[in-house]
Amino acid sequence: MLERLQKILSQAGIASRREAETIITAGRVAVNGTVVTELGTKADPDTDRITCDGKPIKPVSRKVYILLYKPAGYMTTLKDPEGRPLVTDLLKKVGARVFPVGRLDYNTEGLLLLTNDGAWANNLAHPRHEVDKEYMVKVQGAVSDEQLKRLVSGVELEDGLTAPAAARVVHEGDKTSWISITIHEGRFRQVRRMCSAVGLSVVRLKRVGYGPLELGTMKPGEYRLLTPREAEKLLATKK
Ligand code: URA
Repeated sequence: MLERLQKILSQAGIASRREAETIITAGRVAVNGTVVTELGTKADPDTDRITCDGKPIKPVSRKVYILLYKPAGYMTTLKDPEGRPLVTDLLKKVGARVFPVGRLDYNTEGLLLLTNDGAWANNLAHPRHEVDKEYMVKVQGAVSDEQLKRLVSGVELEDGLTAPAAARVVHEGDKTSWISITIHEGRFRQVRRMCSAVGLSVVRLKRVGYGPLELGTMKPGEYRLLTPREAEKLLATKK
């Protein structure tokens, strides 16, 4: 089926549609050996040979959307120079080359989405989809009202003030406490940095919710396919 080149590029996960336009006008895309710079040019990803920077773009046939319980001690990158375990090692049976949507730190566990649908991933990562992400955070000691209030109203980090969040204490023990923090931003190590900024030392960090999706009773390393309806519903979560 004929599709616009920018759509083909974004579906292959090369770039967002907007970025794909820049790539095309820069003369980096060729169809059947001829460089195409005109936006709106159509091609058939199944029959035309489309390349970007000389590398062939493979059409994505079966789209898969996965919800994985990432265990702590796994990388969300596709390669690791230090040879640490990768989340994709857990998904060999899926039979599709999926990549993570966003990331979780090596030591963070919990709900991670993966897909081979680049357009869906780019779309979901766009700031207009302010998807709420809920984290359960185990911290050392007790949590004061003042600390909670600061997490909720916004914490000054090196890269600016965090947006208002939801935070509540879920369990208070002798030595540690669990708090739930819900944010919609996705800055690097954001929850750990927010906690540290208010004087809380994080012992364990687990993402339990992503928009309407929940980790529920899943165990580390388990995964399930999202239904098309669930995948669509996530994109409907808009600002
Ligand atoms: N916040 C963090 O600090 N780490 C994560 O992995 C996710 C959110």
